[in-house]
Amino acid sequence: MKNKSNRLGFDTRAIHAGQEPDPLTGAIIAPVYTASTFVQDGIGENKGYIYSRPANPTRLSLEACVADLESAETAFAFPTGLAAAATILELLDAGSHIVAHDDLYGGVYRLLADLRPKTSGHKVTFVDFSNADAVKAASTNDTAMLWFETPSNPLTKIVDIRSIVEIANTVDALTVCDNTFSSPVCQRPLELGVSIVMHSATKFLNGHSDLLAGIAAVSPTAPEGIADRMRYLQNAVGSVLSPNDSALLLRSLKTLPIRMQRHCENATRIANFLSENKTRLGLETVLYPGLPDHPGHAVAKQQMNGFGAVVSLLVEGGQERADKLLQRTNLFQFAVSLGGVESLIQHPASLTHATVPVERREAVGVVDNLVRLSVGIEACDDLIADLEQALLA
Ligand SMILES: Cc1ncc(COP(=O)(O)O)c(C=O)c1O
Repeated sequence: MKNKSNRLGFDTRAIHAGQEPDPLTGAIIAPVYTASTFVQDGIGENKGYIYSRPANPTRLSLEACVADLESAETAFAFPTGLAAAATILELLDAGSHIVAHDDLYGGVYRLLADLRPKTSGHKVTFVDFSNADAVKAASTNDTAMLWFETPSNPLTKIVDIRSIVEIANTVDALTVCDNTFSSPVCQRPLELGVSIVMHSATKFLNGHSDLLAGIAAVSPTAPEGIADRMRYLQNAVGSVLSPNDSALLLRSLKTLPIRMQRHCENATRIANFLSENKTRLGLETVLYPGLPDHPGHAVAKQQMNGFGAVVSLLVEGGQERADKLLQRTNLFQFAVSLGGVESLIQHPASLTHATVPVERREAVGVVDNLVRLSVGIEACDDLIADLEQALLA
């Protein structure tokens, strides 16, 4: 694409990468190719498309745009984040050993702890990835994959990406980083040596809470053949994003940089406000990687360009007070998910992490008085006033 390469700024590429005006009409936004099949010119002769599962022009534009933003060799779009995760796991042979973060989105935990051990014989060791020594101790020459989120869901633990890559390289394992909480605006793990980045694109990448989608983006420095294998697997398991959702997501990416900037500004102000007023507002802990007292702040500062928009709180008064808070906020609506322009508040122990066994949840800190905020891009004064009135009520 003329003048639309990696050399241009991130914000420019978010608008243009992978996209050309329609050659037939000049329409600045290419038409959405909803066709399931493509007329062939002869045996083995076509215009590059046969059937929309292996390749669809609208999906390919989206995949090219995300690949560019994540500094990937290539990216693949799936119908959900979990579909992306499940397809990445198909890269592994039966019986493979995986070392995974102990603080992961509940659905990914379910795949790793329950499903794959039963269906593929995967052996999964869960450790705290914010402690590189624990990851090192758990990784052996038989380890095939290291899987983590940073910041993690819901405790916002920060993983030192470079250290994990170093450990993976010594045991010759693939690394998978779930970049959902950061988006490529705030963090680009592939540039730090990670093999594959995944996303629940349902979240910040889309940003408007009106579709489900997933992404797997493969590094140009990943072991040879991984990108081709992912392409093969996406088609073989038939896990593809629809053309209409691809077009919506492509549109959303155009505003990703300005949305993220505002998300991060609002979250920083809110985290500071809550932290400075902890006693008055009845809060035990405010977890946000942008706060200087967050255990991962120093590492986050090194590897992130912004600290994201998820703020987790431990409230005084146990689950009862958490429940009251969830019901008393007005602008922060009580709903799962995150990353939309509207602010949300939710209760991980009973919702996003309900699939994690209670002993495990409590051992890692997903306790009953934990509440997770997804800070939107509304006027920040309104958001602060909403939280303050709900906490003081
Ligand atoms: C960090 C993270 N990864 C993966 C997923 C799964 O994505 P999806 O809901 O799009 O399947 C989620 C969903 O909340 C998530 O928060």
